Amino acid sequence: MEPVCGSTGNYTAKSTYESNLLALLPSLASNGSNQGFYKDTTGRVPDQVYALILCRGDTNTSACRNCLDLARQDALQLCPYNKAATIWYDNCLLRYSNSNFLNSTDNSNVIYMWNTQNVTDDLDKFNKLAGELVNRTSQYAAFNSSRRFGTGEANFTATDPNIYGLAQCTRDLSGDQCYK
Ligand SMILES: *[C@@H]1O[C@H](CO)[C@@H](O)[C@H](O)[C@H]1NC(C)=O
Ligand SMILES: *[C@@H]1O[C@H](CO)[C@@H](O)[C@H](O)[C@H]1NC(C)=O
Ligand SMILES: *[C@@H]1O[C@H](CO)[C@@H](O)[C@H](O)[C@H]1NC(C)=O
Ligand SMILES: *[C@@H]1O[C@H](CO)[C@@H](O)[C@H](O)[C@H]1NC(C)=O
Ligand SMILES: *[C@@H]1O[C@H](CO)[C@@H](O)[C@H](O)[C@H]1NC(C)=O
Ligand SMILES: *[C@@H]1O[C@H](CO)[C@@H](O)[C@H](O)[C@H]1NC(C)=O
Ligand SMILES: *[C@@H]1O[C@H](CO)[C@@H](O)[C@H](O)[C@H]1NC(C)=O
Ligand SMILES: *[C@@H]1O[C@H](CO)[C@@H](O)[C@H](O)[C@H]1NC(C)=O
Repeated sequence: MEPVCGSTGNYTAKSTYESNLLALLPSLASNGSNQGFYKDTTGRVPDQVYALILCRGDTNTSACRNCLDLARQDALQLCPYNKAATIWYDNCLLRYSNSNFLNSTDNSNVIYMWNTQNVTDDLDKFNKLAGELVNRTSQYAAFNSSRRFGTGEANFTATDPNIYGLAQCTRDLSGDQCYK
């Protein structure tokens, strides 16, 4: 789990922004857990809230729902009174803001995470295979999947037989936006 609190201002207790946000967040999970993607907005400027949820393409409705229920609570707790937050888990993503990030390829909340164990043999082979795999799964997610979700495997070595790959975009993006 990894939260990124926003920098577009704070709201106060019992404000219109708070009531808009508290109304919108649960409806994202109830409307979106089935499809694994949902975006919505509520209220009017300056109290308008934009939000989206995304679940991993291979999670089912209940896993998606559980993840989003946790995400909602964590986001409000970890970014208290912040108008914007993004929170990532293995199974889902929740993002909300007073600034309209929907329909855009805004990657300003990028987070890199990596396995701390290193490959020890055939480094060149690993890098080549992993690079091809990432390209292949990204291309599939962007151009061959209406859900913008792709997975793949590559064969590595006898002791470490498989490298697994996964790529996913939000479904409001075009193929080109997704690939970019
Ligand atoms: C919002 O609240 C946080 C935490 O209380 C504070 O650090 C930050 O300065 C506030 N931001 C604004 C724009 O008031
Ligand atoms: C689904 O979203 C719509 C539109 O925002 C909202 O009116 C409705 O209450 C939501 N449904 C549920 C079950 O939360
Ligand atoms: C949904 O996925 C979870 C986690 O993989 C699993 O434990 C659960 O049995 C699945 N539920 C259904 C209804 O398939
Ligand atoms: C995003 O695009 C959709 C489809 O073009 C449109 O209906 C929707 O109003 C847009 N949402 C925002 C928040 O701009
Ligand atoms: C993995 O390699 C990096 C870069 O060479 C190094 O900084 C890091 O300590 C290594 N990690 C382990 C667990 O050996
Ligand atoms: C992956 O794709 C990028 C550009 O789309 C290209 O520059 C790169 O060489 C490719 N990597 C591999 C290992 O195929
Ligand atoms: C993906 O889509 C491209 C372009 O439409 C097509 O040429 C290619 O065969 C498709 N690949 C797969 C694996 O479906
Ligand atoms: C990996 O090896 C298996 C078994 O030898 C084979 O069926 C599969 O097609 C290979 N996958 C790739 C991506 O080369």
